[in-house]
Amino acid sequence: MPKNSCCEMELPETDYQATRKVAIVGAGQVGATFAFTLMQSGLADKIVLIDVNAELAQGHVMDLNHGLLFVPPVKISAGDYSECEDANIVVITAGAGQKPGETRLDLVQKNAAIFQNIIPQIVRYNPKILLIVSNPVDVLTYVALKVSGYPLNRVIGSGTVLDTARFRSLLSAHCEVDARNVHAYIIGEHGDSEVAVWSQANIAGITFDQYCPTCHKHCSEMDKEQIFQKVKNAAYEIIRRKGATNFAVSLALLRIVGSILRDEQSVLTVSTLLDNYYGISDVCLSIPAIVNRDGLSRILSIELNETERQQLQSSANLLKQTIRQLYI
Ligand code: NAD
Ligand code: LAC
Repeated sequence: MPKNSCCEMELPETDYQATRKVAIVGAGQVGATFAFTLMQSGLADKIVLIDVNAELAQGHVMDLNHGLLFVPPVKISAGDYSECEDANIVVITAGAGQKPGETRLDLVQKNAAIFQNIIPQIVRYNPKILLIVSNPVDVLTYVALKVSGYPLNRVIGSGTVLDTARFRSLLSAHCEVDARNVHAYIIGEHGDSEVAVWSQANIAGITFDQYCPTCHKHCSEMDKEQIFQKVKNAAYEIIRRKGATNFAVSLALLRIVGSILRDEQSVLTVSTLLDNYYGISDVCLSIPAIVNRDGLSRILSIELNETERQQLQSSANLLKQTIRQLYI
């Protein structure tokens, strides 16, 4: 343990070898906003932006670097895939986004082709963890896992971390309780077949079945359904108005990246390959899981009621059907 010479106080040891490097592939709306969010957080020492449109990545890097005076020290550059070497995490946001009216699954052929092309170029440099964001994120997490040959803990999809945040934020506003004290998860596909786990949703350990009758609003099942529809359709509503979603997703990514870089062991609804979860196997979708420095540490077995089980099964079936269409 090093000593501070003036007062002989013991100082905590620092591992100076450890760099916290994050490469972002895809410098569009999501990639650039995430870079901006990450640079302000102080979580990363190095951020690299990679895009097929090199000028776009360079332009963002110039702009971001002009703000370095105002944030914790960090090196930001544009580069090619060789920059994935030594990266703790490669966050992949490359590919087409939905146009108004398109579903995430409508993007599958286009973006799976992009992944077939870029994943080998990335894993050639053996970065530690791949965090998939491009849509349809569950299918592309599966593609990245198969194409990379990485063990499943090293390939994570951002999954329903964003949807869970939307759910908790809407419940928070509706119930007039801090979102941090509302515990509720969206599981399954990050998309139209996602599932709200109402049976386990709670405020301070009080389930909604117990909580709602004690609240002056006396919400019915219909009110709950309206909240869920708003969560499920949030991206459509935002894309219709501004063409893309970028802010909340970037904060969701920061939460995942933070849990990896700081070894937080946080419970997050990331997308991962399932093996006999309620009988569901060989498909990636979101379930609450523990995320740490090695990526996915452990999937949690949460109690689901019969309706939720059936909805999760339908979500898995839809994703499997989509994967089958890719012939990988
Ligand atoms: P965008 O069009 O603004 O950016 C995509 C970027 O990818 C572009 O800069 C493009 O040049 C780049 N790109 C395309 N092909 C590439 C390749 N082969 N190699 C490197 N870069 C390549 O789109 P966006 O709004 O940033 O969204 C990106 C993706 O993220 C979309 O698929 C979108 O649906 C998805 N998304 C996911 C979530 C989530 O929660 N999982 C949230 C928002 C957006
Ligand atoms: C979202 C993206 C489009 O904001 O998947 O949900």
